Amino acid sequence: MKTLVVCNWKMNPSSWKEAKKLFEETKKAAGKARSVSVVVAPPALYLRELSKLARSIPLAVQHAHADEGGAHTGEISLAQAAESKATYAIIGHAERRAQGETIEDTNKQILSALAHKMTPILCVGESTRSIQGEYFETVRSQVKGALTTVPQNRIATIIIAYEPVWAIGAPRPMAPRDMHEMGIFIRKTIVQGWGDVGHAVTVLYGGAVDSTNAAQILDEGDVRGFLVGRASAEPEKIKALIQSLS
Ligand code: 13P
Repeated sequence: MKTLVVCNWKMNPSSWKEAKKLFEETKKAAGKARSVSVVVAPPALYLRELSKLARSIPLAVQHAHADEGGAHTGEISLAQAAESKATYAIIGHAERRAQGETIEDTNKQILSALAHKMTPILCVGESTRSIQGEYFETVRSQVKGALTTVPQNRIATIIIAYEPVWAIGAPRPMAPRDMHEMGIFIRKTIVQGWGDVGHAVTVLYGGAVDSTNAAQILDEGDVRGFLVGRASAEPEKIKALIQSLS
């Protein structure tokens, strides 16, 4: 199975010219790495133009509203994102939850993404950790809440990106051992609600992933790939990261 690298460019780069260059470099590196498959999540206004540059690199929207239309100034809908060629949708990123996005919102977005034939990438993760282990409950409620009423035959198509909030933008990722533990916990949570198909759910890790740590995480962390921020938004860094996995 290929390693999935989802490039979350966030609000970068600052111009279309740079976005095009970053995308071309990412595509080139991905083309050489047979064991890696890459998805790019650019700022939404670049989706349609980027879709013309490569069919081999699927695109994701970083966030979109569940409603089909209406009075939501500044938002775009999942329907519009799908029509602009996004085939994946990042849902519930920590930076969106910090802006007030609720578990109910993530649930509506998952259902809307599925209705528009997109693959949801649901981000979950605790803000802090303590020895009492309450972070497991946090992640369980994010997973169960977002997936409420998702039919059993669609559950295996959902991708879960475990991104502990404290590791996003941090100097180092979390220990692979702890990722491994959370990966098992997430799959167990889904199996409890939806049965054995839950074992097939793809779990990614995100938070301070780069070319110096990705291969080791893959070896020891029991994850199928990564959601990458900073190291995806510069041509040299994403090239090095993809190379380190192939
Ligand atoms: P960094 O890779 O910059 O830590 O960001 C992780 C992230 O939030 C990806 O969605």
